[in-house]
Amino acid sequence: MLRSALVSRSLLPSTTKRAFFSTVSKRLQQQQQQHDPKLTHFGFRNVPEEQKESLVHQVFANVAGNYDVMNDAMSLGIHRIWKDQFIRSMAPGPGTKLLDVAGGTGDIAMRFLDYCKNIHRDNTSHVTMVDINPHMLEEGKKRFASSPYANTNQTEFMVQNAEKLENIPDESMDVYTIAFGIRNCTHVDRVVKEAYRVLKPGGRFMCLEFSQVDNPLISKVYDIYSFDVIPVLGQVIAKDRDSYQYLVESIRKFPPQEEFAQIIRDAGFSTVGKGYEDLTFGVAAIHSGYKI
Ligand SMILES: C[S@@+](CC[C@H](N)C(=O)[O-])C[C@H]1O[C@@H](n2cnc3c(N)ncnc32)[C@H](O)[C@@H]1O
Repeated sequence: MLRSALVSRSLLPSTTKRAFFSTVSKRLQQQQQQHDPKLTHFGFRNVPEEQKESLVHQVFANVAGNYDVMNDAMSLGIHRIWKDQFIRSMAPGPGTKLLDVAGGTGDIAMRFLDYCKNIHRDNTSHVTMVDINPHMLEEGKKRFASSPYANTNQTEFMVQNAEKLENIPDESMDVYTIAFGIRNCTHVDRVVKEAYRVLKPGGRFMCLEFSQVDNPLISKVYDIYSFDVIPVLGQVIAKDRDSYQYLVESIRKFPPQEEFAQIIRDAGFSTVGKGYEDLTFGVAAIHSGYKI
C-alpha cells in the first residue's frame, strides 16, 4: 500500500519506479503464462507449444505408409530433382559422417550413400538417420534392407527429437542434413543450435525446405495447387485429407529465405553469400552454413 502510494505520488526517483514497474510486469507475465500457455502454429491453427509435437507425430504416423507415393504425386516427381541437387551441392568426400535429421523414409540418406559409392567408389562413408517418428523410421529401415547397404555398417537408425539430439555427441559429425523436416519442429532455432553442437569444427549444416515464391503469378498458381489440389490428392490416394491440409499450411508458416538464413547465422554458422539457393522459383530452398 505504502509502496504504491509512494509510486503514484511520484515520491520515488524515476529509476526506482521503473524497476518497480518492471518487476510487477514480469510477475504479471509469469502469472499469465501459467494460465495461458505459450502458443505456436500447427498449420494455420494456434495450439499450445507442448501439443505441437504430438500433433505432428500423429500426422506422420498417419502418412508413413503412403509417404513415398504421395511425395511423387504431390510434387509430380520434382522432389527427386531437388533432393539430387541437395546431394550434388553437398558433394560429400570419401569417409564423410552424415547425420540426417527428420530422415523419414531415407531419401537423403540413400542418395548420400549412392553418391559416395558412385563418385568415389567409397564404402567408408556413414549415415546416422534420426527421426522423432518410429513409423517413418521403420519405412526407412525396410527400404535399406533391400538396398546395397543392407548388412553393411554404413547406416544407423535412431528415434531422436531434432530439438534435443540426446544420443548424438558434441562435434561428432561432418555434415548435418534436414530435408522437409524443420518446419514441423516447434522451435526452429533450437534445432539449428543442436545442429551446431553436433557438428565438428569445419562441419556443414544443410537444410532443404519448402520456402517462399516471390513471383506473384507463380505464387498464385502455386497457392491454388497447394490448397485445392494437394488435400484432394491426400484424400484420394492416402484417404487422409487433414494430414495433407496440415502439410500445405505448415509450408506457409515457415520463415522466408532471408529470415531463416539469419536464424542459421544466429546459431553461430557462417554462410557463403546470402546463405541459400532457391529451387523452382523458391517453392523450395537449400540453406547452408559452416561451423568455423
Ligand atoms: C516431410 S517428412 C521428410 C522426410 C525426409 N527427410 C524426406 O525428405 O523425404 C518430415 C519428417 O520430419 C519428422 N519430424 C517431425 N518433427 C520432428 C522432430 N522434432 N525431430 C525429428 N524428426 C521430426 C517426421 O516424423 C517426418 O518423418
